[in-house]
Amino acid sequence: MSLNIPLRDWRDRRVWIVGASTGIGAALAEALIDRGARVALSARKRDPLDAIAARSGRSVVVPLDVTDAAAVTAAHDALVDRWGAIDDVLFVAGSYRAMRAWELDASAVDSLFDVNVQGAVRVVAAVLPDFLRRGTGRIAIVASVAGYRGLPKALAYGPTKAALINFAEGLHFDLAPKGIAVHIVNPGFVRTPLTDGNDFRMPALIEPAEAAALTLRGMERGDFEIHYPKRFTRWMKWLRVLPYRWFFPLAHRMTGL
Ligand SMILES: NC(=O)c1ccc[n+]([C@@H]2O[C@H](COP(=O)([O-])OP(=O)(O)OC[C@H]3O[C@@H](n4cnc5c(N)ncnc54)[C@H](OP(=O)(O)O)[C@@H]3O)[C@@H](O)[C@H]2O)c1
Repeated sequence: MSLNIPLRDWRDRRVWIVGASTGIGAALAEALIDRGARVALSARKRDPLDAIAARSGRSVVVPLDVTDAAAVTAAHDALVDRWGAIDDVLFVAGSYRAMRAWELDASAVDSLFDVNVQGAVRVVAAVLPDFLRRGTGRIAIVASVAGYRGLPKALAYGPTKAALINFAEGLHFDLAPKGIAVHIVNPGFVRTPLTDGNDFRMPALIEPAEAAALTLRGMERGDFEIHYPKRFTRWMKWLRVLPYRWFFPLAHRMTGL
């Protein structure tokens, strides 16, 4: 049984994608345009958003920085003015910085939380009053399997993704009974600007178009958690339930770190 209301048809749905300029968000935007949705594209860089919007006369470009609460509210209000309402919001924006304990940099961690966690909170806070008033809406938040457990190099990024998973679980408790769907999306490795700088082998690496297709399929099915590719994420889920005395040595061995 689905934990969310399944979604049968994207045609004419009004979808706001935050973090749509590159990578998974851009691929989601293109896939949704192909499926007939009306998409609103947000991120900081305007040019790539304009290029995606050029694929469909019904797309809207709303550049913003998710660390700016007023800009998030203004973008939401402008979209509601234009469309009447938003049906679905996809929070994809995210920032990554590899960090080990001896490199701990509190202000860099602050910045990651500001984008990855507080950014999501700001966007959800902007859409929720209207979703609640209408008793409908769909929220998808992209976290990561890096949020399942502490991992080497993910000292700053991992906790932001763990927070998002927890946030989405809490949202689902409250919102599913009110007719609002909540999805948490936990990808493994996807080839994007965010992972281009990684200096280690990325097992089961997939392309953004595949990530987008799997995300949309999970939303259509009404899954709460959407994780992929399964050949990688099943291992990560198994690691998640191991007792610490097995988890730490195994993670050391698997990562070589
Ligand atoms: N790639 C992977 O292997 C992987 C795995 C698991 C999870 N994820 C998650 O997937 C999401 C998308 O990442 P990606 O891999 O597709 O990387 P990406 O290509 O770097 O995309 C990140 C997106 O976030 C936007 N963004 C960053 N900071 C922002 C800000 N302050 N305000 C508004 N937008 C901002 C970027 O646009 P601008 O720079 O134009 O603002 C861009 O559109 C992230 O949440 C990431 O953590 C990725």
